[in-house]
Amino acid sequence: MDVNPTKTAKLDSSKIKRDFPILDREVHPGVPLIYLDSAATSQKPRQVISAMSEHYQHSNANIHRGIHVLAEESTGQYEDTRQKVADFINAAKAKEIIFTRNTTESINLVAYSWARANLSSGDVIILTEMEHHSNIIPWQMLASERDVRLEFISVTDEGLLDMQSYRKLLELNPKLVAFTSMSNVLGTITPAKEIVSLAHAAGALALIDAAQAVPHFPVNVQNLDVDFMAFSSHKMCGPTGLGVLYGKQELLEAMPPFLGGGEMIKRVELRSFTTNDLPHKFEAGTPNISGAIGLGAAVSYLQAVGMHAISAHEHDLLQYMTGQLGQVDGLRLIGTAFNKASVQSFLLDDIHPHDLGTILDHQGVAIRTGHHCAMPVMDFYGVPGTARASLALYNNQDDVDRLVAALTTAKEIFR
Ligand code: ALA
Repeated sequence: MDVNPTKTAKLDSSKIKRDFPILDREVHPGVPLIYLDSAATSQKPRQVISAMSEHYQHSNANIHRGIHVLAEESTGQYEDTRQKVADFINAAKAKEIIFTRNTTESINLVAYSWARANLSSGDVIILTEMEHHSNIIPWQMLASERDVRLEFISVTDEGLLDMQSYRKLLELNPKLVAFTSMSNVLGTITPAKEIVSLAHAAGALALIDAAQAVPHFPVNVQNLDVDFMAFSSHKMCGPTGLGVLYGKQELLEAMPPFLGGGEMIKRVELRSFTTNDLPHKFEAGTPNISGAIGLGAAVSYLQAVGMHAISAHEHDLLQYMTGQLGQVDGLRLIGTAFNKASVQSFLLDDIHPHDLGTILDHQGVAIRTGHHCAMPVMDFYGVPGTARASLALYNNQDDVDRLVAALTTAKEIFR
């Protein structure tokens, strides 16, 4: 890969595409893959695949437990990733980075540890109507257990958060505001800094679900002043099975552990234990070591390309895609906010999204169809599901043209 260290220079998506071996395959005889489902999971560059394979071939050992060479190498590589991730989101300290299984587990960690230690009957949590289920269900479970009240910032027809409704809800003196910084269905980039700042002014903590945001544009936790932030490796060119929870040190230190077991303790007696220091307090059991090493390689890859360059490339490509889709007769765009990244949901005529997805797949075009784990958003638009095309740094205008051609074919088939 030709790396591009400047913030503004253009990214060469054809060169980048060659780093992703899977993008070179055919999905049916003679039909090459066009991958437009990166919001579900991104593809992985050879640099990530090689780092994980290299680890298993040369350094595989458990971490923080051995004094032999392999254990030290493995521990060093795992902890290097923690520092890389901290640098990537501009966390003040590596110990503010907790490795989990995924965004969902990161949010559950906060719900089980911080929220159950701090919230009681009548307390208010503010969410938004555009959340992924992973940022709704943990709070619903808490609400039914503790009689905590959930309130929701409403969404406008274009797919923006209604900030007036948010300001009104803040009068309820919430304890937590938990929201997405980019909707996986609508592509909307929410005004995260303003939401956090208003939450703090009202005396609440703020949690960001950044699973969709982090792969697409620079995210700076100190600048946002956010208290907790959750995201997943697999959406940012890293492997599956690894997530991140960022938390401010003083909050994480005051929180009780989430899962119990090895590694999260300093001392154990038959009837008691003392907890380990951060970040180990929240990493019970043998973690996903190779996953962390893969994530480290993914972060290095994204940084070498440049998050500003990725953001600019995807912005231009999303505009192109939205323009081209808008010209397809009978196509309804869902999610038309002014500030969006890399995702476009749509419906075509009265074709069921699953049928549309199948016809597109026959032409090699991979999109996601359904409710996208965000049923309340579907309810808001009064649809059971949508088709969704989502972009990443390796996509280009040819991919969009193939999508549009495949949609035209689908229209002919269903005419
Ligand atoms: N949350 C992922 C998506 O939006 C799985 O597709």
